[in-house]
Amino acid sequence: MKWDEGRALIKVQNLTKTYKSTVAVRDISFSVSSGEFFGFLGPNGAGKTTTIKILATLLRPTSGTVILNGYDVVRQAADVRRSIGMVFQDPSLDDRLTAVENMELHGMLYGMPRRLMKDEINMLLELVDLSDRQNDLVRSFSGGMKRRLEIARGLLHQPSVLFLDEPTVGLDPQTRNHIWEYISEVRTSRGATVFLTTHYMEEAEGCHRVGIVDHGRLVALDTPNALKRAVGKDVLTIRTSDPATAVTVIQRELNINPDLDGETITLSGLDDGEALLVRLVATVPGITAIGVPKPTLEDVFLKLTGRDIRDEPASAVERMRTRHRSVSRRGRH
Ligand SMILES: Nc1ncnc2c1ncn2[C@@H]1O[C@H](COP(=O)(O)OP(=O)(O)O)[C@@H](O)[C@H]1O
Ligand SMILES: [Mg+2]
Repeated sequence: MKWDEGRALIKVQNLTKTYKSTVAVRDISFSVSSGEFFGFLGPNGAGKTTTIKILATLLRPTSGTVILNGYDVVRQAADVRRSIGMVFQDPSLDDRLTAVENMELHGMLYGMPRRLMKDEINMLLELVDLSDRQNDLVRSFSGGMKRRLEIARGLLHQPSVLFLDEPTVGLDPQTRNHIWEYISEVRTSRGATVFLTTHYMEEAEGCHRVGIVDHGRLVALDTPNALKRAVGKDVLTIRTSDPATAVTVIQRELNINPDLDGETITLSGLDDGEALLVRLVATVPGITAIGVPKPTLEDVFLKLTGRDIRDEPASAVERMRTRHRSVSRRGRH
């Protein structure tokens, strides 16, 4: 899970993009290191696609600069394009061609020598488990297979950076997990820098660093663990055979004021939950269960923006549920 922190492969400075009346990206600055697995996390409309398209030379910034692999994305777009591979939301495979033909077309567009192209195609199709379907028409492929082929194709010309815009959106959960494994694998085996956007918290967990975007602003940027640590102090929950006595003992012996909710005693705002755990067990009689709830990236998002990231509630009931969850979570911090 290590990357070369020293070498910035992508440098974004004061990037802003305005569409007529909408400011889609507001003064964003960050760097991505060589070999890094970088995630851009945010809800729909946050500005993820706009940002990744500017980095990939498909959109011009309104202001600010982006240097990728030493090239300016506006003034040296052709050099930038040779340095990157892209897997974007709009499918761009030719359904009437086979998997191999789609790959070859891409290799020819990039002027790859035939021999190298053939070897690379074999290796990449192997990597995404499509070797046995290589001569089938893409038309017959499932959504997940198409996405895998696009990932393989994006890497064919040996780019330094692979851009993926919501690579798992629209796929069922099982296929999503698979795609995720393939991305991790190609990243490790090819040593490529991966920049992806997602609105799935659990996907961002797997990145080296995560930038959280909301309303066009970069509101946080760090490793998933550091982001979670920043959310708040530790929390412990315990259950005992006699909660009332336990609360008294905790107040008297440990000098902490716990919350009692039904059978569950919650100790929050702790500096070092793990150290306290040992003292709790030694001090409080009759403990039957201990919980150490860890913050998730969902909590991080909620804390930073005051909202849940889930922006597409299925129904009014789900909306109510989401709201309740937000309120009760917010109460915890
Ligand atoms: N071509 C466009 N014209 C006008 N507004 C746009 C265009 N593309 C995106 N936007 C707006 O810019 C904001 C950011 O969009 P986008 O970058 O697609 O966000 P995300 O990918 O995070 O969902 C949204 O408010 C969206 O409606
Ligand atoms: Mg998008």
